[in-house]
Amino acid sequence: MTERTAKLTLDDGQTIDLPVLEGTEHEKAVDVSSLRKSTGYITYDDGFVNTGCCTSTITYIDGENGILRHRGYPIEDLAESCTFTEAAYLLIYGELPTRPEARAFTDRLSEHSDIHEDMKHFFTGYPSGAHPMSIMSAMVTSLSTFHPTVRDEDWTFDETAARLIAKVRTIAAFSYRKASGKPYIYPRADLNYASNFLNMMFSGDGEDYEINPVLVRALTRVLILHADHEQNCSTSAVRLVGSSRANLYASIGAGISALSGPLHGGAAQGVVEMLLKIQADGNDVDKYVAMAKDKDDPFRLMGFGHRVYKNYDPRAKIIKGACDQVFDDLQINDPLLDIAKKLEKVALEDEYFVERSLYPNVDFYSGILYRSMGIPVNMFTVIFAIGRLPGWIAHWRESSQDPEWKIWRPRQIYNGAVARKIVPMDER
Ligand code: ACO
Repeated sequence: MTERTAKLTLDDGQTIDLPVLEGTEHEKAVDVSSLRKSTGYITYDDGFVNTGCCTSTITYIDGENGILRHRGYPIEDLAESCTFTEAAYLLIYGELPTRPEARAFTDRLSEHSDIHEDMKHFFTGYPSGAHPMSIMSAMVTSLSTFHPTVRDEDWTFDETAARLIAKVRTIAAFSYRKASGKPYIYPRADLNYASNFLNMMFSGDGEDYEINPVLVRALTRVLILHADHEQNCSTSAVRLVGSSRANLYASIGAGISALSGPLHGGAAQGVVEMLLKIQADGNDVDKYVAMAKDKDDPFRLMGFGHRVYKNYDPRAKIIKGACDQVFDDLQINDPLLDIAKKLEKVALEDEYFVERSLYPNVDFYSGILYRSMGIPVNMFTVIFAIGRLPGWIAHWRESSQDPEWKIWRPRQIYNGAVARKIVPMDER
């Protein structure tokens, strides 16, 4: 809170002074929470395009300048120097771990990697074509039936958070194995987070499957890049559900469901499907750019545009670099990468995209990278969810610890019929 206030004058003559808040990076906000009480007015902001719903110490984004920092550390540095579990620890607990803290955290993850044997039966109940994101949200919510939790004890939180981070990876790999009709591969305590995931996904496929360190490094990077992004749709869902004092599993289940939409985490799948379509259509990039610009056509360039970034998404830059590195190191040639680069070039030079500040977002190149790892398209959003989990947990914890905790309950402007009487059915 600052000493400053903003004055609001309504056309009925009422004037009110509203407090001004300022963040550590000098972001400013007018606190309108007292407005209704003193004037009867609410604020209206369709889709929350300009509404701050909390204060937070986790992530800072400057969308105009393409800046993303977690707990003060630039995303570029975290992606370059950290493991995924270190980044997860940072987000949840506020500081990078010391060596003993990192070891204790990793041990805790190893301890919780297995899922209860009874849960394995759940997988068999889903139809073979079931989307792994639907399976994942149901399985995560089901975890609370096996591990009932007390909400506000710190030690319970630590266990629950570790359990989720460890088990979500196992659930994801099992849902892939189930969908492909392959036997489950159990987690191994001797492997790091990303290696363990790749091993559970693919090690049963051939006698000589070897975990490739180039892919492990790339997957680690992608997971870190997805780890948090402040008040996006899914994180807001987690905070909203958690605000009713719902437990962590239920809140994360809501986050996974929110992430599954094609305008949010589903975009990586959408990008690859779009690129495949362009390829099948003779690589006609210009045609698809024209379709994206046509207001009578619902088609949008997937992986382009962002509510917050009006500059190149810093995560997209890193993933593009990671893609080039993996393709070089492993001598991979995927024509979809060439189409993506051409599409990016055409769009970035086009007036429509320039005027609207539409740049590639995190999902534009991530799908192509997943393909190079052998990860099928319907698992892309699942990987996003594994990466985003520490962020969701960090936000749930932060909101739980807020001394002014209250249930989230937005208001609306009612635009429907005014009061009327029920007419008997025969007279309608
Ligand atoms: N292709 C073509 N036009 C676009 C695109 C796009 N991908 N994105 C935005 N626009 C246009 C809109 O039509 C609108 O044009 P107008 O001003 O002439 O009406 C203008 O740009 C602003 O777009 P909005 O939809 O108002 O922007 P909003 O902030 O609501 O949406 C969103 C952001 C949902 C990401 C949007 O850009 C989009 O649909 N992108 C494609 C899907 C995608 O990649 N989603 C992943 C987002 S990142 C993430 O969740 C991890």
